[in-house]
Amino acid sequence: MDRLVTEIAGVRYRNPVLLASGIWGESGLSLARAYNAGAGAVITKSIGPVPRDGYPNPTVEPLGDWGLLNAMGLPNPGIENYLKEVDEARRAGAVVIGSIFGATAEEFARLARAMEGAGVSSLELNLSCPHAKGLGSEIGQDPHALSEVVKAVKGAVRIPVWAKLTPNTHDPGALAEAAAGSGADAVSAINTVRAMAISAKAMRPVLAHKLGGLSGPAVKPIGLACVWQIYERVKAPIIGIGGITTAEDAFEYVIAGASMVEIGTAVSTRGEGVFREVSKGLDALLKEHGFSSVKDAVGAAHREPVS
Ligand code: DHB
Repeated sequence: MDRLVTEIAGVRYRNPVLLASGIWGESGLSLARAYNAGAGAVITKSIGPVPRDGYPNPTVEPLGDWGLLNAMGLPNPGIENYLKEVDEARRAGAVVIGSIFGATAEEFARLARAMEGAGVSSLELNLSCPHAKGLGSEIGQDPHALSEVVKAVKGAVRIPVWAKLTPNTHDPGALAEAAAGSGADAVSAINTVRAMAISAKAMRPVLAHKLGGLSGPAVKPIGLACVWQIYERVKAPIIGIGGITTAEDAFEYVIAGASMVEIGTAVSTRGEGVFREVSKGLDALLKEHGFSSVKDAVGAAHREPVS
């Protein structure tokens, strides 16, 4: 399936359908399982400098066909304890992308060096968790702060750096420009959309943290719009994320401007078979529309139709 081989900043991937961060990324075994199920690469859970428990339960609320609401609070074992999982996934043959979060540019740079040392093929900076005090989108909604983080990480490592952007902003294109202008090799869009659930019966918010992030089918139109707008503003490759469940969803993201896509919520609702199903179906759609590679189809919906 050569049509699916995709290169981002000099790294080749066997296909453009990746395991998104935050799902199955806790262990080397689950990362390897997603890779062996056909993912083009697998992205770790977002890892910070020290162990972090996250928020109390309830942290997840399924919203039926719409998707999932969650506020986990970035629970993770800390970088020192996590690196063995990267090693385990790599020894099983997986191509691993390291997702990291920090409170300062220096923290991001330190985490980036540690992940690079463990052999990840690229980094994805979580600049977009929608509800963590002093972290995530509190940095990533501010183009200046975002830019400082990207510059620090770029100065610290040689592997490609992807900046994962938030949809919780009025101008995703400006964030992408700040990231690409500071040297990011790619931008990933989108992270979850700030959201909440309230129980009419209990008359209280459902999640312990009250506010959370929405993922899954309901956010696909939001993700598509962000990718579309970013494609019109920057030349850097875009990694499309948000509600991708079928091959058609992936194809829509590609023609909106994405060079690769990530799947998160659909892995939990449909299981690991989703990777082969989406990449096989994407290959068929590319062929049907006369594209000899994913690359040729990227942004096709922006171009005037040939008559
Ligand atoms: C969490 C982190 C995220 O980046 C996100 O989009 C949603 C939730 C979390 O750990 O809570």
